[in-house]
Amino acid sequence: MASGRPRVAVVGAGPSGLYAAAALVASETAVDVDVLDRLPAPYGLVRYGVAPDHVKMKSVIRVLGRPFGPGEVRFVGGVRIGEGGIPLAALREHYTAVVHAVGSAVDRRLGIPGEDLPGSTGSGAIVGWYCGHPDHVAAPLLDTPAVAVVGAGNVALDVARVLARTPDELASTDVPDAVLDALRLGRVRDVHVLIRRGPQHVKFTPVELRQLGDLADAEVVVHDDGLLAGGALDDLLETVTDRRERANLAALAEWAHATPGHATRRIHLRFLRSPVRILGTDRVTGIVVERTALGADGRVRGTGEEETLDVGLVVRAVGYTAVPIAGLPFDPDTGTVPSVAGRVVDAAGEVVPGEYVTGWIRRGPTGVIGTNKHDAVETAASVLADLPALPPPAHPDADDLAALLDAHGVRPVDWTAWLRLDAEEIRLGAARGAERIKVADLQEMLAAVHGLPAGGDPR
Ligand SMILES: Cc1cc2nc3c(=O)[nH]c(=O)nc-3n(C[C@H](O)[C@H](O)[C@H](O)COP(=O)(O)OP(=O)(O)OC[C@H]3O[C@@H](n4cnc5c(N)ncnc54)[C@H](O)[C@@H]3O)c2cc1C
Ligand SMILES: NC(=O)c1ccc[n+]([C@@H]2O[C@H](COP(=O)([O-])OP(=O)(O)OC[C@H]3O[C@@H](n4cnc5c(N)ncnc54)[C@H](OP(=O)(O)O)[C@@H]3O)[C@@H](O)[C@H]2O)c1
Repeated sequence: MASGRPRVAVVGAGPSGLYAAAALVASETAVDVDVLDRLPAPYGLVRYGVAPDHVKMKSVIRVLGRPFGPGEVRFVGGVRIGEGGIPLAALREHYTAVVHAVGSAVDRRLGIPGEDLPGSTGSGAIVGWYCGHPDHVAAPLLDTPAVAVVGAGNVALDVARVLARTPDELASTDVPDAVLDALRLGRVRDVHVLIRRGPQHVKFTPVELRQLGDLADAEVVVHDDGLLAGGALDDLLETVTDRRERANLAALAEWAHATPGHATRRIHLRFLRSPVRILGTDRVTGIVVERTALGADGRVRGTGEEETLDVGLVVRAVGYTAVPIAGLPFDPDTGTVPSVAGRVVDAAGEVVPGEYVTGWIRRGPTGVIGTNKHDAVETAASVLADLPALPPPAHPDADDLAALLDAHGVRPVDWTAWLRLDAEEIRLGAARGAERIKVADLQEMLAAVHGLPAGGDPR
């Protein structure tokens, strides 16, 4: 039945899409909003990126899920838009406007030899694995005592911390049983975080950095290579004024001065090292790094001095980019869809009518969950301002969308169906003393959402 109201599709049920949906329905303009996601579960990186031991952070889902009350925003999960799914042009026939909130899911590459060897992975795959993402059920190669994590952002910290935790520490989190089993069998004891610039240039946030010191059986080793003696850190503390940088330096200086303890696992913070090549024939056996020096502008230059670390796994945590959205302009340098106040614009700066962006696909892959609220609200305001002038869709009836999905062999997951999976995960968690245990296998997810016995045909 067509309601007569304008219809807006939000593609992506991560924080930015859900903040945008909330802002759209909070307005005085009567508008029907559907949030579509390629996965049967909502919340994007809150569910599949935020580290399992960041339990408090995940409580934001209570806010993000609010628009899905009865009769309000519809969740249409399990629906991929674009390549391999429903073409954007077909979707447009059902909606007055489309807000793209698909994030930036592609790991940036280092562009060095050996990067494609088994045992070299992007953070997306390893984070997806421990977060129970259905695209990443295969375990990384943990049969190695030493791992390198390249990067100095919070994702690098997350990966280093999760790998250095004991499996018992993670048992009360939502990690799938298979992840705990793999960590129990794993041999990782030394995690080397490779940072190409100096301690004052890290992108870590101080709370997350300090957290490295709170692990049950791991200690932090800040390496003193002559370039970075404890004294040098103290000197930096004297000169640096930025609060975040000072807080990071204070934590690093404490660790640099500490006497080594007896923990069985170590997180090594190695500054001024840039990866040059990854070694190995059948799989990773090491990584060669070049010592770097800092120019006055904070940029690094190579010194020509190389060293090799024997590691069996290399994780690059050097940021993300996005896949272009077929039919929309794309800036490969920033990994974003160009826009003005959330309105998609073409190369000539002309607005593409009815197409909007928000979140990481709009701004690029930086910022915490709350950062997405501001631009989601701005994008929603642009949509609401434009709606009166936008032509109605060719197929305004909600039932027509069901027919489109059916024609593409897609059985959508509505909010009630997602709640069945949610309840199943909470039920599984109770047995392990965890708030929930993620179901990572897509067929099992679909069986749970559609209320089928395990192994039933989800179609
Ligand atoms: C590893 C990691 C850990 C993080 N941890 C924290 C943290 O602890 N605290 C914090 O504040 N911030 C954290 N962040 C940052 C935060 O997660 C992001 O700011 C936020 O998730 C970006 O929101 P988004 O909605 O733009 O993208 P996303 O969260 O990525 O959501 C995009 C959604 O779009 C869907 N989608 C993608 N393509 C399609 C398609 N073709 N069709 C349909 N649906 C599609 C995806 O399935 C996903 O649900 C973390 C980021 C990463 C990468
Ligand atoms: N707990 C949390 O709040 C949390 C957790 C995870 C993520 N997040 C947020 O999510 C966003 C993304 O995080 P992120 O860690 O992916 O990105 P990020 O903060 O941009 O960090 C990327 C890191 O990769 C380094 N890098 C880039 N290219 C490199 C190369 N070729 N060789 C070596 N190092 C390279 C960068 O170093 P340079 O600085 O030298 O360029 C930088 O340290 C951030 O805003 C982050 O704060 C938040």
